[in-house]
Amino acid sequence: MTGPNPRPPGGWWRNAVIYEVYIRSFADGDGDGIGDIAGIRGRLAYLRDLGVDAIWITPWYPSPMADGGYDVADYRGIDPRFGTLADAVALVSEAHDHDLRVILDLVPNHTSSRHAWFRAALPSGPGSEARGRYLFRPGRGPAGEEPPNNWESAFGGPAWTRVVEPDGRPGEWYLHLFDPEQPDLDWTSAAVREEFEATLDFWFDHGVDGFRIDVAMALVKDPTLPDAPPWDRAAVGPPRVPPVHPFFDQAGVHDIWRAWRRVADAREPRRVFVGEVALVGPAGLARYVRPDELHTAFNFDFLRCPWDADALRATIDGTLAALGAVGAPATWVLSNHDETRHVTRLGRAATGARGLLDGRRDVADLELGTRRARAAALLMLALPGGACLYQGEELGLWEVEDLPVELLQDPTWKRSGHRVRGRDGCRVPIPWSGDAPPFGFGPPGSVPWLPQPPAWAALAAAAGSRTPGSMLALYRRALRLRRDKRGFAADGLRWIPSPRGTLVFERGGGLRCAVNLSTEPLALPAGRTTLLASLPLDDDQLPVDAAAWYVETPPTGPRDGEAGR
Ligand code: NOJ
Repeated sequence: MTGPNPRPPGGWWRNAVIYEVYIRSFADGDGDGIGDIAGIRGRLAYLRDLGVDAIWITPWYPSPMADGGYDVADYRGIDPRFGTLADAVALVSEAHDHDLRVILDLVPNHTSSRHAWFRAALPSGPGSEARGRYLFRPGRGPAGEEPPNNWESAFGGPAWTRVVEPDGRPGEWYLHLFDPEQPDLDWTSAAVREEFEATLDFWFDHGVDGFRIDVAMALVKDPTLPDAPPWDRAAVGPPRVPPVHPFFDQAGVHDIWRAWRRVADAREPRRVFVGEVALVGPAGLARYVRPDELHTAFNFDFLRCPWDADALRATIDGTLAALGAVGAPATWVLSNHDETRHVTRLGRAATGARGLLDGRRDVADLELGTRRARAAALLMLALPGGACLYQGEELGLWEVEDLPVELLQDPTWKRSGHRVRGRDGCRVPIPWSGDAPPFGFGPPGSVPWLPQPPAWAALAAAAGSRTPGSMLALYRRALRLRRDKRGFAADGLRWIPSPRGTLVFERGGGLRCAVNLSTEPLALPAGRTTLLASLPLDDDQLPVDAAAWYVETPPTGPRDGEAGR
């Protein structure tokens, strides 16, 4: 291995590649069919050799798993299905030994309904201190039989559920922007704020390097709880947030991130926050990454952008301008555990992501999607800033769209009245080795919690390692080059004029990235050194739906960055 990523001044996260470990589906150490901490510990060498800088581990806390762990019952524990606190501490230390930083996933918008706070709130009755940590309100209508407003749950149905009071009568309603088993906290409560800051300290004391923050734009609600504009699930991207929305992007949310930043900055080495801020357009996003707030945030505009040169360029330029104005780096992303895997997405007629909470799906051409996914990876990894990979994208996995409905676990399936399948298809346990399930995900004979397609044999990590030109080989090589070539750590990019439907830009040190989204091959300059191409070049021609990295002037000294696959 080469040394650690060159650390630009200002912090490692500014150009880090973060790898999302969706813990239930990464690697199963104990054979119960569910991924766990032991599984991650066994794969740290793989992650180091892949060349990422940090891992983000999705929630591993005790949870009834009503929403795959995003329903947290105890923020300072470990769910026994995943291991123990001692296992977690050992993982953090071993990851550091592998030069990998560890980012946990914190879910501050809501708890599980099994959290001690919510269990205390139910019997305590209206007006009690315990209810004050959540958003309990009387209903509308003569007998309070209507929810307090029209807000909808992200998973379908009303965002309010009525409780039965201690005296047995129907009573108040509580807010849950997600599942009824995920009651929203009231962030005007000092107790809530103090508890979360103490939780940050708890995990910082255990050595973690930062947090990914779940729905970071939703914690603060308009105190008058007015009706919201309808949620158009068929729209491309997240809800279009009007200038003032009652539960997204309320101005008061920034006070929380400023307070958290003070907690992180009190630590040496500095700890890092990565926000899940699902807004449309970079202007709103930029407010979350001002110098005294979160360090960075996933770029959902990039993830949702159609496979179109003009649209991508506009997204990239818009992002860099808005984030640059506040001195923040971008963190580009193509897939995650909530979105259709991009091999599938990019193989559809409509390439812009709609989100898995919308039921519509067109047929995907996986061969086309894979070609484009290879090019998209080179585009993303050449852009200034950081990037976040979703486990399995480096293997070229596609969305599993034919899971038997009786196995679906995403609450969306039930809450949509069995209309929208939800997000299980991007969460299928990943294949490591062998010719048949469980593909090394768990010990032989174990049964993964979601069935793996037999065709994934060809995409297993072991197969990819053996196959020159595989998706895994491409990612390894690209990540190696990112480390070796200091130009990738430079700020900004310069667009090079290129034919319609193509993107060509230069980073530091003369590094160039060309992406061909047109319908004709793109001629690359003859006097260049090609560092990497997503598909074989035909002489100097970059094929359609391919990307290449090159330098214009051949290097004089030994060719760096050529170290093997
Ligand atoms: C975003 C998470 O990524 C998603 O999986 C979860 O369902 C919601 N937030 C609610 O926590």
